[in-house]
Amino acid sequence: MRVPIIAGNWKMNKTVSEAVELVRVLRESTADVEKVEMVVCPPFVSLMAVKDALAGSKIGLGAQNVFWEEKGAFTGEIAAGMLKDLVTYVIIGHSERRQYFGETDATVNKRVNAALKAGLTPIVCVGETLAQREAGETAAVVSHQVLNGLAGLTAEQAKSIVLAYEPVWAIGTGRASTGDDANAVVAQNIRVPLSKLFGEAVAQGIRVQYGGSVTAANAAEFMSRPEIDGALVGGASLKAADFTGIIEATAQVK
Ligand code: PGA
Repeated sequence: MRVPIIAGNWKMNKTVSEAVELVRVLRESTADVEKVEMVVCPPFVSLMAVKDALAGSKIGLGAQNVFWEEKGAFTGEIAAGMLKDLVTYVIIGHSERRQYFGETDATVNKRVNAALKAGLTPIVCVGETLAQREAGETAAVVSHQVLNGLAGLTAEQAKSIVLAYEPVWAIGTGRASTGDDANAVVAQNIRVPLSKLFGEAVAQGIRVQYGGSVTAANAAEFMSRPEIDGALVGGASLKAADFTGIIEATAQVK
């Protein structure tokens, strides 16, 4: 009942022309895919060109961040209302933003509210660091991020949110989690808090991705788990063949 969603987080990679070239290949290589929602999230400066290059394709477009104010003197920031003309999705609270740009659960919450208000689908990232995992804090950290990041939303709003469980130690390291471990964290530390916030029925309908060193080779390991509804892909989303392989593995397993 939860449609799998594979999103590519390009991070700070690709010039505008490289971005257009990548999606030109991707739209061909994924043309026959069914029943998997596909999303690419290029840097802001490429959104317009990529939107044009994707016109009429099945691939959706997302941004990598959004500011919570509507407009005004916020040099360098981008408002949800500006993104809404270009994209359908927006990644919020990625661990790199938490680590390098001072993102907290409180700012995640403001961004999620702004995104929802503009009609965007937030992809909200949560996940523990290596130190937190080794200290046995995974459950507490992840459930707090969910409870605080999504506090105050209505159940109706929550229905359109996507979450991404991304253990920080697995991001960009080539050291992915295991299907069993990720599935358990999603079940216990994401879906349980979601049901506390929004009720069991809504929690069961919310899609939760796994992210962290997902490749075409290991995608099936995660996608075959019942609690995992897709992937947020960094490095492997930068090559059309790798990203297509992940999408195809998802279509086969789900
Ligand atoms: P990775 O990144 O696939 O390169 O590990 C995932 C992410 O940061 O979303």
